[in-house]
Amino acid sequence: MSPSSRPDAGSDARLRVALLGSTGSIGRQAVDVLEAHADRFRVVALATGSNAEELQRQAVRLRPAVVALAAEASTPELPTGTARVGGADALVELATRDDVDLVIVGTGGVVSLEPTLAALRARKPVATANKETLVAGGHLVMREARALAAQRAASDSSDALASPLAWLRPIDSEHSAIWQCLAGERSGTIARLLLTASGGPFLDTPADEFAAITPERALRHPTWRMGAKITIDSATLANKGLEVIEAHWLYDVEYDAIDVVVHPQSVVHSAVQFVDGSLKAQLGTPDMRLPIQYALTHPDRLPSPAAAPDLIAAASLHFRAPDETRFPALRIARDAGRTGSRATAALIAADEVAVARFLEGSLDFPGIPRLLEAAVRRFGEAADQAPDLPALVQLDREVRAAFASGPVAVA
Ligand SMILES: NC(=O)c1ccc[n+]([C@@H]2O[C@H](COP(=O)([O-])OP(=O)(O)OC[C@H]3O[C@@H](n4cnc5c(N)ncnc54)[C@H](OP(=O)(O)O)[C@@H]3O)[C@@H](O)[C@H]2O)c1
Repeated sequence: MSPSSRPDAGSDARLRVALLGSTGSIGRQAVDVLEAHADRFRVVALATGSNAEELQRQAVRLRPAVVALAAEASTPELPTGTARVGGADALVELATRDDVDLVIVGTGGVVSLEPTLAALRARKPVATANKETLVAGGHLVMREARALAAQRAASDSSDALASPLAWLRPIDSEHSAIWQCLAGERSGTIARLLLTASGGPFLDTPADEFAAITPERALRHPTWRMGAKITIDSATLANKGLEVIEAHWLYDVEYDAIDVVVHPQSVVHSAVQFVDGSLKAQLGTPDMRLPIQYALTHPDRLPSPAAAPDLIAAASLHFRAPDETRFPALRIARDAGRTGSRATAALIAADEVAVARFLEGSLDFPGIPRLLEAAVRRFGEAADQAPDLPALVQLDREVRAAFASGPVAVA
């Protein structure tokens, strides 16, 4: 199989796609891209959590062979020819079907890790936006992706699938930017990675006002339109901390060589500094459909529904260092990354609890990084820093239970 088409497939050479999390922010934008390139992609499977109405609409438009809905009680009316599967293994079942060539993961949470691993083990490339996949399971998924790439490289080193990134394809705009910067570059030439951050809505808010920040204010992101969880993560810079960990795994770069640069306009999506001092950046409008599409068509490029950036209209681009005193989540995440995968798994589980509690009103804004630090100290510092999948799922459960309610103090 070529990475973005099936040249040996007879009359219908379209790539057959399973889309997990099809009704979410990433999922809906992935549907836009897949529909814009219906001549290249055929949607075979859709999975979602509880939004039966939207799933039904998508099924009518895309005519997949199968859908999965985690909420067992909902019964969407499906078009003829579309079956429904259920149960705890539904995501794995969809991600490993024989008639699926590529899996898109737009689900949040640790629930995404098992289908991602299963898809890779079934030799299917995975385009993923999900954070847990790399933050909690980077040591597991990258081992699979590297092994698959090595097998391809052994027979043909110029094969597009001879790179781990062709198997585990990042959708996040920052990681996509770095991936795009690395096109055509040789391994061993990266000096530093520069991840850009918009800085969120509180970039210039004094620290003594942070306790009064409401969910409503934190949900107003200045440049990106995203799901609620990632929008709050952008406001605390926890999202950038998670991305530093993801970049470490994806690009095999040490934490000391990954910088965060605040860039409020979100035009430069990230950059790579090479050993000769050259800096290569990728620029684009803040539209996730571009990195989603790149992950699907790599190494090809196709016209995109996303608009190109207008540099003359932008006039000037600004950059500054992040303030880790006001935004400690960045430091906490980097430290967890240096400790290992148990610490980062505790961190991301804690982040989900902290954001949910902030949104429901049982934790204030400064309480979010406080909870992250408390969880990493309490659950993340054990000796085994490369837990297997069952241990990660168990850890996720323990962290959630420990911090679900009550005051949070760092031990
Ligand atoms: N949004 C962005 O721009 C963006 C950018 C970069 C990275 N990411 C990352 O991408 C992931 C998804 O983000 P998002 O903003 O798209 O989240 P979202 O809007 O909350 O969407 C999550 C999707 O997953 C589905 N889902 C939840 N539980 C499920 C289950 N057990 N089985 C199957 N599907 C399930 C949801 O279904 P229901 O809607 O039916 O509940 C929904 O379709 C996160 O890890 C996020 O950090 C997002």
